[in-house]
Amino acid sequence: MKDFIAGLPKCELHLHIEGTLEPELKFELARRNGLELPYATVEEMRAAYTFDSLSSFLTIYYEGMKVLRTEPDFYDLAMAYLGKAAEQNVRYAEIFFDPQAHTSRGVPFDVVIRGLRRALMDAQARLGVRAQLIMCFLRDFQAEYAMATLMESLPYKEWIAGVGLDSDERGNPPSKFATVYERARQEGYLLTMHCDVDQDDAAEHIRQAIEDIGVDRIDHGVNILEDQRLVEVVLARGMGLTCCPISNGYVTDSMQAEGIRKLMDLGVRVTVNSDDPAYFAAYVTENLIALQDTLQLNEHELVQLERNAFEIAWLPRQLKDAYL
Ligand code: ADE
Ligand code: ZN
Repeated sequence: MKDFIAGLPKCELHLHIEGTLEPELKFELARRNGLELPYATVEEMRAAYTFDSLSSFLTIYYEGMKVLRTEPDFYDLAMAYLGKAAEQNVRYAEIFFDPQAHTSRGVPFDVVIRGLRRALMDAQARLGVRAQLIMCFLRDFQAEYAMATLMESLPYKEWIAGVGLDSDERGNPPSKFATVYERARQEGYLLTMHCDVDQDDAAEHIRQAIEDIGVDRIDHGVNILEDQRLVEVVLARGMGLTCCPISNGYVTDSMQAEGIRKLMDLGVRVTVNSDDPAYFAAYVTENLIALQDTLQLNEHELVQLERNAFEIAWLPRQLKDAYL
């Protein structure tokens, strides 16, 4: 089964590019930029990845990305992920990036996006992996900063498929960004947002995302099972959920495999993704293997997960059909 999963053509839709920054590249970028790291070795750095909640993860994640400074840094980051994606037979990826995590520490927006974009173009030409960018707003910053970031992105609109919302969800509900999302929609962006698995008010956040904001899909979203009415809306609209089993295991007590199974059985378009693979020590293949192992998924079900992903991908119909 592992070989079957390894060979399966894949589509990854929930992947934070800053979460693909492996310790080896962190050391290389620190050296290049003349920065000191608080660890002597790669092993020491990995040993410090001891998070048990979203907020403890986010602290290490934001600290780690401070080595990213220049356009070639962002190019190398994205190229490293896309090389790994090609090895795992990922044919298409939608990649989140967090511009505010960089602009807030003085790295210009255009440095970030130009580096990422150049890697996407080179990866398509050299590796045959297609990818698009999704710009995420950080929900623990003010909505006005998200709006300013949206405005800053407009000259690069052709390079960005849509917008997302990530970072710390506690106290930062979807409704906080309703105006930003409305403007993003008017500008032609597609819409997604994180509705994390470890939230007390998860079902209400999902309701706001779907009914008040009208997102096209939801990142995570397993908690939709808490409200049968929302399950029906998602089914009626054919909306997709981008689930991340191994990531779930870090921020809750389990991969939420039973919930994922239930959603699959209900016919919801669930997909399997890696989220922050450098920190959770698992790329998409390892996530599929872990889920298969827990749920005893058969080959047909594994193929269906990838079909779901290509089906909900933000690609023109013709291109999707070429993958399906
Ligand atoms: N930013 C990067 N990874 C994230 C995650 N798993 N949840 C919320 N925000 C994130
Ligand atoms: Zn995520």
